[in-house]
Amino acid sequence: MTKIKIKNLEFKNPLVLASGTFSFGDKFISVANQMGGIVTKGITLKPRMGNPSPRIYETASGILNSVGLENPGVDKFCTNILPELKSLKTNLIVNISGNSPQEFKALAQRLDDTEIDALEINISCPNIRDCNKMIGRDPKQTYKVVRAVRKQTKKIIITKLTANFIDPLITAQAANDAGTDAICLINTLYGIALDTKTGKPFLGGVTGGLSGPAIKPFALYCVWYVASRIKLPIIGCGGIVSAQDVKEYLLAGSKLVEIGSANLRNPYAGLEILKELNRLRG
Ligand SMILES: Cc1cc2nc3c(=O)[nH]c(=O)nc-3n(C[C@H](O)[C@H](O)[C@H](O)COP(=O)(O)O)c2cc1C
Repeated sequence: MTKIKIKNLEFKNPLVLASGTFSFGDKFISVANQMGGIVTKGITLKPRMGNPSPRIYETASGILNSVGLENPGVDKFCTNILPELKSLKTNLIVNISGNSPQEFKALAQRLDDTEIDALEINISCPNIRDCNKMIGRDPKQTYKVVRAVRKQTKKIIITKLTANFIDPLITAQAANDAGTDAICLINTLYGIALDTKTGKPFLGGVTGGLSGPAIKPFALYCVWYVASRIKLPIIGCGGIVSAQDVKEYLLAGSKLVEIGSANLRNPYAGLEILKELNRLRG
């Protein structure tokens, strides 16, 4: 079988655990170790408390979350969490989030001399209050952020894009011009749930990000559409719950896939999908 690589980084299989759905990789280590990689929960420069509860709303075929990037901040991540991850036997990809190119630059600088394998730039989180400012909806800002990180690090860069009210091909091109090594498509989609008893939004963060099987056909479309128009390696993400889903994403042009919400239901989902994928491949 041909090796799966992004630049010089090799993946033992195409399955990666998606950010925010497998903690920092410090739980269920035996599962993480058998995957091609794990992406940590998003890290910001300063600690974040996240949004008020409730943070999760179950829909007919997916979930809305408004976690709001709760995390201990990059310094605590480096001193308290990263040492625990040294024994991981899979690629460790750190997901970083910020409000400006300067913040992303500082995060990349702080992580550059650590032993992580790659950075995933999250410019597509719908759960921070000022949604209109989502960097990933603006190709110029996307370029600036990726460029700032590229100048700061030689580590592999994956840029995680949104398809919320923007053509992802335009931002993929901007990320490519700025020097990203790969793109991940897609992050969660905007959503809202209203409490019919109170007439108010159900989620403490008011709006949320929709994930799970509900978004799969759209996410798959995004991968297929961008893959046929750009040369960058693509990591497909959205609604994967089975090996069949993985095969579809690979057919659509993904090199790797990320499994997200399925882990929340069953932390062994990645393993089960891997076993089934190997069985289908014979
Ligand atoms: C509870 C939760 C937290 C998430 N946190 C992050 C995050 O910190 N950074 C990020 O880039 N994506 C985050 N995501 C998005 C997922 O990584 C993934 O892109 C999205 O859920 C779509 O995949 P899925 O349908 O398989 O869940 C989060 C998703 C969920 C459900």
